[in-house]
Amino acid sequence: MILNRLFRKIRTSIFLHGLKEKGKYISLFFPLTIEGKSNVSIGSNTGIGSYVHIWGGGGVKIGSNVLIAAHCCITSLGHNYHSSKIREGSMISKSVSIEDDVWLGYNVTVLPGVTIGKGSVIGAGSVVCSDIPPYSIAVGNPAKVIKRRIM
Ligand SMILES: CC(C)(COP(=O)(O)OP(=O)(O)OC[C@H]1O[C@@H](n2cnc3c(N)ncnc32)[C@H](O)[C@@H]1OP(=O)(O)O)[C@@H](O)C(=O)NCCC(=O)NCCS
Repeated sequence: MILNRLFRKIRTSIFLHGLKEKGKYISLFFPLTIEGKSNVSIGSNTGIGSYVHIWGGGGVKIGSNVLIAAHCCITSLGHNYHSSKIREGSMISKSVSIEDDVWLGYNVTVLPGVTIGKGSVIGAGSVVCSDIPPYSIAVGNPAKVIKRRIM
């Protein structure tokens, strides 16, 4: 148990090496993938579940006290589908921002250019295509605000 925890701590600190910015007490559950680490920031006390995939090349900023459940996907990259060959066409990149105190439920997808406002909750399985205002509860594909957090 103690050895497991120690192993995960060491693995986490190696894995976080190369990020643009990183806070303290970040907890990661493996396996997970972060591509384009030099464009990705993660704030303090944020937790990221297993099988999360982050395409960071276009810039991904994750705030502090954020919870990202397993199997989420956050992408700042796409392909220019107007070029004749998708694979050889230019990449399109738009930065993504997930502000402090956000909770992404299981299997949420966040698309390029989106900002999820501070304190928001995104329901399991949702696809976030446009900005979500702070302290919203948003669900579905495409994710729509259904209510606001009451604190
Ligand atoms: C988003 C969430 C927090 C909302 O919880 P809630 O406030 O109790 O919501 P309700 O159950 O009252 O649902 C409100 C409406 O949204 C719908 N809804 C709730 N979650 C939804 C989801 N993930 N996708 C689509 N619709 C959803 C409900 O069907 C309901 O619709 P209706 O008003 O037409 O009946 C919760 O549904 C959720 O998705 N939690 C994520 C849990 C999770 O991923 N846990 C594992 C990792 S920590």
